[in-house]
Amino acid sequence: MDIHELIRIRKSVRSYLPKPVEPEKLEKIFHSVRLAPSANNRQEWRFILVQDKETRRLLKTAAANQSFVEEAPVVLACCAETDGRYMRCGIESYKIDVAIAVDHLTLAAAAEGLGTCWVGAFYPDQVREILHIPPAIEVVELLTLGYPKDPGLIEKERLPLEKILYKETWKR
Ligand SMILES: Cc1cc2nc3c(=O)[nH]c(=O)nc-3n(C[C@H](O)[C@H](O)[C@H](O)COP(=O)(O)O)c2cc1C
Repeated sequence: MDIHELIRIRKSVRSYLPKPVEPEKLEKIFHSVRLAPSANNRQEWRFILVQDKETRRLLKTAAANQSFVEEAPVVLACCAETDGRYMRCGIESYKIDVAIAVDHLTLAAAAEGLGTCWVGAFYPDQVREILHIPPAIEVVELLTLGYPKDPGLIEKERLPLEKILYKETWKR
């Protein structure tokens, strides 16, 4: 499948089969995650892979009770081990770097027939406590991963190109 097709089929999956994800697939996906670009190639991303049922149940409560967080056979806590460096442009780099790595993850997962969903609605202090994450580590995002109950395509609601792409100068 080419990259454009992968991007087209990736969707947020909020309903999962109980089937576990094969360790070889997880490893393959994370080899692609490793290759993501990052500011100064700092690679500050760190992931905690959670498969334990009780821990997933606890993470669900920390994620505003979104039930698919428990249902998914894998939940990833996407973190950063960072000294909080800013780029010259004024943006803190780890947030971008972790987001790129997570995007690689979602696409690599889609290539393996797996579904994912980003989860930003969570209480970081609770996630820290559940997963014993030290205070110096930033918890950026949770991500669910598993075989989708419904692998079908969805119509994506997106802005038209002319609303997001301006030519040569800012134009409204
Ligand atoms: C940073 C971020 C945080 C998100 N947080 C949640 C969330 O907490 N719960 C949820 O159900 N979906 C969450 N989503 C998924 C978005 O709702 C979804 O990506 C968007 O509606 C577009 O749909 P699609 O992913 O199927 O293309 C999040 C997505 C991103 C990128």
